[in-house]
Amino acid sequence: MFARTALRTSVAAARPASARLFSQSSAAQRAVAVLGASGGIGQPLSLLLKLNPDVTDLRLYDIRLAPGVGADISHVNTPAKTTGYAPEELEKALEGAEVILIPAGVPRKPGMTRDDLFNTNASIVRDLAKAAAKVSPKAHILVISNPVNSTVPIVAEVFKKAGVYDPKRLFGVTTLDVTRASTFLSGIAGSHPAETKVPVIGGHSGVTIVPLLSQAAQSSSVNPGEQYEKLVHRIQFGGDEVVKAKDGAGSATLSMAYAAAVFAESLIKALNGAKGIKECTFVESPLFKDVAPFFASPVELGPEGVENIPALPSLTEEEQKLLDACLPDLQKNISKGVKWVAENP
Ligand code: 2OP
Repeated sequence: MFARTALRTSVAAARPASARLFSQSSAAQRAVAVLGASGGIGQPLSLLLKLNPDVTDLRLYDIRLAPGVGADISHVNTPAKTTGYAPEELEKALEGAEVILIPAGVPRKPGMTRDDLFNTNASIVRDLAKAAAKVSPKAHILVISNPVNSTVPIVAEVFKKAGVYDPKRLFGVTTLDVTRASTFLSGIAGSHPAETKVPVIGGHSGVTIVPLLSQAAQSSSVNPGEQYEKLVHRIQFGGDEVVKAKDGAGSATLSMAYAAAVFAESLIKALNGAKGIKECTFVESPLFKDVAPFFASPVELGPEGVENIPALPSLTEEEQKLLDACLPDLQKNISKGVKWVAENP
């Protein structure tokens, strides 16, 4: 009792008042599937989803251990009916799923970029996307598996080939970049992280991650020049800090699970009719469509998923330079995914 109250209080306190994690239940509730549920991200993510009062039916799938993870999490006394599925039960796990989170795949080791995971994770994501396109074509797909800049286009191509692609329902989860920007800036400004909001645009890898620090009320605490540049670099390469500290045992799992749970919570609230919900996410976007048809920016979410992609705010000279460096890499990452899936359908 004490632990549950303490956890709920501390998680809620970490979110801005406007969008607290698990603050209250909406009217309609949702069936959610996690593909890759017994991995480093999948397990904590599944637990956080079990705590979300808007999730009524939680399906956990992986190529190993998911029945055990499902049994374990099912004992948590929240309403979501939780089931773990055996490796051969992928389609059963997806039947009726309205939101599908995909953290499946291998993580980075020290010295690797997210792109180095491409060869392994591309086929994992393609196969899961094929099953989703067949069994739950109207589900909202939240891609966490790296390299997100390429795996999201892979899912789009699989859904297009199946004739069921709806760009409003496909999201690359970039919330961890926003979370890191908020944490790192608040460390400098001495502000509360939940009140330190930094939109992050572009993609989810290295220089494709473009924090718009000028949009944060606390940006004046950052000195131009070296301090600004170090902060930008830390946000762009924050994942490497975790990979290095884990020393061969993988990349960010707990903060990634938290970030994905935050994004899922916002999306489910929007699907259930809540107004004014906006999150940064990597989606098919008109903003730079000739160069980078997928782009992360603050997106308004609604009952159908993506509701509106507002124009970007005006950028500072430094931010424009970051964006100029982002776009060519992003273009390459996106094209790589599209080309690979055309050659490996
Ligand atoms: C990260 O940003 C795992 O991609 C994830 O650390």
